[in-house]
Amino acid sequence: MKIILLGYMGSGKSTIGRLLSERLATSFIDLDAEIEERVNLSVSQYFERFGELRFRKLEREVLLDILGRSGSMVIATGGGTPCYGDALEQMKSHSDAVTIYLKASIATLTDRLISQKDSRPLIQQITSTELPEFIGKHLFERSHFYLQADHVVPIDAKDQQAISEDILALL
Ligand code: S3P
Repeated sequence: MKIILLGYMGSGKSTIGRLLSERLATSFIDLDAEIEERVNLSVSQYFERFGELRFRKLEREVLLDILGRSGSMVIATGGGTPCYGDALEQMKSHSDAVTIYLKASIATLTDRLISQKDSRPLIQQITSTELPEFIGKHLFERSHFYLQADHVVPIDAKDQQAISEDILALL
């Protein structure tokens, strides 16, 4: 089975993904990390040098490569992965894949992202005051995609263990 975690930046996809893979004794794949390894650049550096459009093409390519691998795994996607081109369709077309949206409120995401702004290309230029509104609008656009996940798991005010338990109960 492939468990694919979807959600906005800061929703905990990588942390929860790693924890789940330990609980399930399967491998863990972080899409951003795979991209970084492939191009030998951080996601921020890649955005800066080649722009978002090239990043989205590369992201899709690496996603398809991962989806084509055999065996059980937990995959943490990037926040934008399901929102471009046919990426979501590709994920959902794999009969062994389960997509899970880690749903966080604007307040939770703002709290988590405010201190990490500089390492995240999409919010680097946004001031802390503007951040909640930016996240709110962005989430509004992206929710259409996130909500097509097989399962929606609310994560506000829950610790990592509780979130993992919620996900394991769905499988
Ligand atoms: C992005 C989220 C990032 C990374 C890139 C773009 C997005 O991943 O893929 O900066 O479009 O939301 P995380 O959600 O893992 O931070």
